[in-house]
Amino acid sequence: MKLIGPFKQIIPMTGLPTKGAITDNQLEIVADGGILVEGDRIKTIGKFDDLVKVTSLNDTEIHELKGDHTCLPGFIDAHTHICFSGSRANDYAMRNSGKTYMEISKAGGGIWDTVTQTRKASKETLTKGIVKRAKRHLANGVTTIEVKSGYGLSVTEELKMLYAIKDADELLPVDLVPTCLAAHMVPRDFEGSPAEYLEQITSELFPLLKTEKLTNRIDAFIEEGAFYPLLIEPYFKKAKELGFDITVHADQFSTGGSEVAIKYNAISADHLEASTDIEIQHLAKSNVIATALPGASIGLGCNFTPARKILDAGGAVAIASDHNPGSAPMGDLLTQAAILGTFQKLSNAEVLAGITTRAAAALNLTDRGRLSSGCLADLSIFHTADYKEILYNQGNFKPCMVWKKGALAYNKHKH
Ligand code: NIG
Ligand code: FE
Repeated sequence: MKLIGPFKQIIPMTGLPTKGAITDNQLEIVADGGILVEGDRIKTIGKFDDLVKVTSLNDTEIHELKGDHTCLPGFIDAHTHICFSGSRANDYAMRNSGKTYMEISKAGGGIWDTVTQTRKASKETLTKGIVKRAKRHLANGVTTIEVKSGYGLSVTEELKMLYAIKDADELLPVDLVPTCLAAHMVPRDFEGSPAEYLEQITSELFPLLKTEKLTNRIDAFIEEGAFYPLLIEPYFKKAKELGFDITVHADQFSTGGSEVAIKYNAISADHLEASTDIEIQHLAKSNVIATALPGASIGLGCNFTPARKILDAGGAVAIASDHNPGSAPMGDLLTQAAILGTFQKLSNAEVLAGITTRAAAALNLTDRGRLSSGCLADLSIFHTADYKEILYNQGNFKPCMVWKKGALAYNKHKH
C-alpha cells in the first residue's frame, strides 16, 4: 500500500448532486488529509496523521509531500479529436479574416482537409501524434481522455484510426476512451447518397467495432453540412440495437441535434452553443449530460454553451476541450474550463465537477472523477493550500504531480 500526503486540502468531489447548480459551499474539503492507495485504487481518505498511525504497523510506503499541496481527482476530458494528422492553420487565418467555419468547409477546407491528411498518415504516425498530445494533457492533470475517430470516413480508414487509438492507449499511463465518429460528415468521395454511406457504416463497421473491441460509443455530427436529424435517426436506432452508447455533436451552429440526443437517450449532447431556451429546458429534464466545449468557442470566436442556464434549469454540465486541428487547436482543458467559468458565471464547484465527476458520467464511467474508497487512484496535485487558486490562475497554474492508477505518472520537478 501507499500513503500520499499530507495535503492541506483534498477535494474529493463526492456527495455532489449529479444535476443542477452547485455552490462552492457544497464542496467537501478534507483538511490535512492523506490518501491510502492499494494497487490502482483508493483504499481510504482521511486525516494524514491518523492514517500514518493506522498504517505504521504494516509495510505501507509513505510518499510524504513537503510544503502546501491540494489534491483533486485526475481530470477527465470527455470529448477530443486528438487522433489526426496535419494542421488547419490556414483555416484559422481565413476565419480570422472573415470567413465562417461553414464557408471554409464548403470551399474544401474544414473537416475534409483533415480527413485527406489523416488518410495519408500511417497508423503508427497517428499513434505517435496521439501519444504526444495525450502526454501534454497528462501534464495538465488529465488522466482520462475520450478520443474520437471521424477523420477516416470509410470502413478501412475509421478502423485505422481506432486501432491507432487502441495502440496509443497501450503506450500511455492515461486511459483513452475511444468513440466512433464515422458520421462526422458525408465523405466527398463516397459514391452514393448520405443514407447509403450511413448504411455501409452500420452494416460493415459496427459489427467489427464489437468483434475487435474497438469502441462501445457512437457519435454523429448533426448539423447542416453534416447530417440532418432525419438521416441520423436510423443510424442511432441501429447503434442502440447493437448496444452502443450514443453521444452527439449537437446544436453547434443550429438546433435539432439535442432533440435527437434526448430521443435516443444519448449519454451526452456536446457543443450546444446554439441551444435556445426550449432546448435547454428539454435537456435539463432529460438524463443527457450537456457537455460544453469552450475550446471550440474560443477557436471559432463564437458563443459559449449556455452552461449557466442549463445548470439553473436543472441540467448536468460537463466541460471538455474538443481538442482538434480545426475548431479547437489549443487543447488545454483547465484553461478553457476556467475561462468558461468567468463568462458563464460558474462556481468553482460547477467547473470542477464539469471536468471530474460530471465528465465521468458523460463517459458512463463510475470508477473515477471523485476520490473515494474503491475509485481509481487518479490524482491531480497542485502546489497550493487553497483549491480556489487553481481556477483563479485560469489554467496558468499547472499540477506539480499527477498520479494515475496509484502510480506517479507526471512529476513537474522531473521535467
Ligand atoms: O467538435 N463540429 C464538428 N466537429 C469538431 C470539429 C472538427 C474539425 O473541425 O476538424 C468539433 O468542433
Ligand atoms: Fe468535437
